[in-house]
Amino acid sequence: MTFTHFAPPKPMFEVIKTKHSRLSQVDFNNIPFGRIFSDHMFVMDYQNGQWQQGQIIPYGNLQLSPATSALHYGQAIFEGLKANRDSNSADILLFRPYDNAHRFNHSAVRMDMPEVPEDLFVEAIAQLIQLDREWVPSTTDSSMYIRPVMFGCDNFIGVRSSDNYKMVVLTSPVGPYYTKPVRVVIADKFVRAFDGGTGEAKAAGNYGATMYPASLARQKGYDQVLWTDGVEHKYVEEIGTMNVFFVINNEVITPSLDGTILHGVTRDSVITLFKEMGVKVTERRITTEELFEAHSKGLLQEAFGAGTAATITQIEELAYKDKRYVMPPVQARTLATKVKSELENIKRGLKPDTYNWLVRI
Ligand SMILES: Cc1ncc(COP(=O)(O)O)c(C=O)c1O
Repeated sequence: MTFTHFAPPKPMFEVIKTKHSRLSQVDFNNIPFGRIFSDHMFVMDYQNGQWQQGQIIPYGNLQLSPATSALHYGQAIFEGLKANRDSNSADILLFRPYDNAHRFNHSAVRMDMPEVPEDLFVEAIAQLIQLDREWVPSTTDSSMYIRPVMFGCDNFIGVRSSDNYKMVVLTSPVGPYYTKPVRVVIADKFVRAFDGGTGEAKAAGNYGATMYPASLARQKGYDQVLWTDGVEHKYVEEIGTMNVFFVINNEVITPSLDGTILHGVTRDSVITLFKEMGVKVTERRITTEELFEAHSKGLLQEAFGAGTAATITQIEELAYKDKRYVMPPVQARTLATKVKSELENIKRGLKPDTYNWLVRI
């Protein structure tokens, strides 16, 4: 197996350890998503035009002025990645952290925020995980979710880019994000992203704008919104937390990355693995009409979402206006099931890491 090994920790960050670990209070057999945070967090400030020394400190509240610019103007970006235990050793495996570092900087540039050296980004995560390694769950459907976030923190009222920023990394042991296949409603009125906007960045505001339509969808019994293009509501783009894939007549199709869709790390991994399996995969624009037509002919075999938090999540039903398109039973949807197991096996060291996706801690 080939692994990227995390180099021995350099004394790059100041470390202040907690005197009161909360580890014994956690029920690892019953972990909710996103509610439990490990003992420590990473914090680093950007001041006077450069990143200051990072610190790993006990997890706790930040002190912020109510004038903190990100609270008013939304200069805030984040990332999400996972670490898992290697099934064959005591090691922890980070999945594609350099891709998240790269995307973090892509988001930073779009939001006029400072970039973070990619090695530093990964090293901060690795040292944090190393310190809280006992917090990484060991059951098969759970992982350590890692949440880097950066926001503008000038105490200033006025619309301009902040001069000061704070980067924080939290870690959170998590169970499954979705516990069952999801029902999604296809957007026909609200818009998540449009050409020239911030859709491709993992910017906080992208998510804020989706809360209201997502609430309306939930009121109607749907779990998520499948966003469509911002001009005609004609082309499907992505789901609020995942990229989307369809299997039509044995071909896997996913919307192409044309500037409005997040470049999902899971999306890229899924495409790579399907190609390795010899499955035909096409990245292109896909219309709602094409989906409905394929469904009516019995050719829409599978629909699923792909994302770090959600892994591979089956879509049970698509709704558009007053129509409902129910997918075939899960047992018939073999490609999503297969790619999910391949991906999980790589993440947990059960399958060779041919693509050098893992960083071992
Ligand atoms: C809007 C959106 N699309 C797609 C994804 C999937 O991206 P990734 O696979 O990198 O987690 C996410 C999750 O981060 C997301 O929030």
